[in-house]
Amino acid sequence: MGIGSCSFVSSLPLALVLVSCLNGAIDAKAAPPEVSGCNVFQGSWVYNDSYRPPYDSATCPFLETEFDCQKNGRPDHLYLGYTWKPSACELLRFDGEDFARRMKGKKILFVGDSLSLNQWQSLTCMLHVSFPSSNYTLNRAGDVSTFDIHDYGISVVLSRNPFLVDVVKEKIGRVLKLDSIVNGNAWKGYDMLIFNTWHWWLHTGRKQPWDYIQQGETIRKDMDRLVAFKEGLTTWSKWVDSNIDPATTTVIFQGISPTHYNGKEWNESSTTTCDGQTQPISGSEYPAGPPPPAAVVSEVLGKMATEVTLLDITKLSQLRKDGHPSAFGSEGHRGNDCSHWCLAGVPDTWNQLLYTILINRGRR
Ligand SMILES: *[C@@H]1O[C@H](CO)[C@@H](O)[C@H](O)[C@H]1NC(C)=O
Ligand SMILES: *[C@@H]1O[C@H](CO)[C@@H](O)[C@H](O)[C@H]1NC(C)=O
Ligand SMILES: *[C@@H]1O[C@H](CO)[C@@H](O)[C@H](O)[C@H]1NC(C)=O
Repeated sequence: MGIGSCSFVSSLPLALVLVSCLNGAIDAKAAPPEVSGCNVFQGSWVYNDSYRPPYDSATCPFLETEFDCQKNGRPDHLYLGYTWKPSACELLRFDGEDFARRMKGKKILFVGDSLSLNQWQSLTCMLHVSFPSSNYTLNRAGDVSTFDIHDYGISVVLSRNPFLVDVVKEKIGRVLKLDSIVNGNAWKGYDMLIFNTWHWWLHTGRKQPWDYIQQGETIRKDMDRLVAFKEGLTTWSKWVDSNIDPATTTVIFQGISPTHYNGKEWNESSTTTCDGQTQPISGSEYPAGPPPPAAVVSEVLGKMATEVTLLDITKLSQLRKDGHPSAFGSEGHRGNDCSHWCLAGVPDTWNQLLYTILINRGRR
């Protein structure tokens, strides 16, 4: 708990750096209202009856069933009408044409677990509906999926890599190597990198894809998972510092995506599901506060030499206990997915914020 208690405060400076980066360099009047000293990650969800999400899931032909809550029979629609309102400013709506103009000829790579898949799918759907008649291709090869919009030469790639650091098959079994990141060789040559890791660090039993965990020369059967996460993330941070030139590659870290399996967190003590939730938490604070790994992320990013922008989605997503598939994901009514997010849905806002970051960087 000691680690978790300070995380929100320590994640603030990063967000402020992000939004205040153009103050001084740019005529304040020319700056859109969502920047100038405004922390875009601090705010609340506002219901707007006439708002429509950036796409209808039915118009995104490659949307994976597990995220398509409407197709899977989710009966309520309220969750589609909430927009994120930063406390001190307005967010721009995602403008696909402007995004494509800024990213023309560029390659974007998402690296991480299925929360990366969730955000990647959201972005590819947002781009597809912006150019419905534009030629696109979607290729899957092993753990890599590549979405290309040919008219703009934009590639949006997803590489599944739940730990970022390596898992290696050895004689004793599968070893999660906290200090090894050979995986990184495949992440070079991109214009924008968007990393995420956390959820798989918690898996045990059948869902745990390793048998041993190695730190330096020491091989163990298990260890404190938060400590292991910090070690792995530190290895990643050193890889970025020694392999990425921030002048040519923008590096983003997709913050911890929260789950909603424990009603105590939002003052509904007995529930172990988000099933039946149809509205966000009102206001701008989550009763349980930030999850412990968020503090680790802030701490590790804070020590890096390379400027990495934290896409600080944690708190705004914590407020969206209504945003998960629950029984309307891939496993149907037996399922209880309070970890991923329906699409259209919350990850569209993550991408709207990613777009905001892009605009801010462009103005520097
Ligand atoms: C509600 O959404 C509509 C359509 O997107 C938009 O024009 C309007 O400004 C929004 N209203 C508020 C109060 O944000
Ligand atoms: C779409 O683009 C690909 C790659 O450039 C090309 O091979 C294909 O013929 C194009 N299809 C159409 C319908 O333009
Ligand atoms: C949640 O419960 C705690 C303790 O009973 C209380 O202090 C707090 O105000 C409640 N928060 C909300 C959002 O209801």
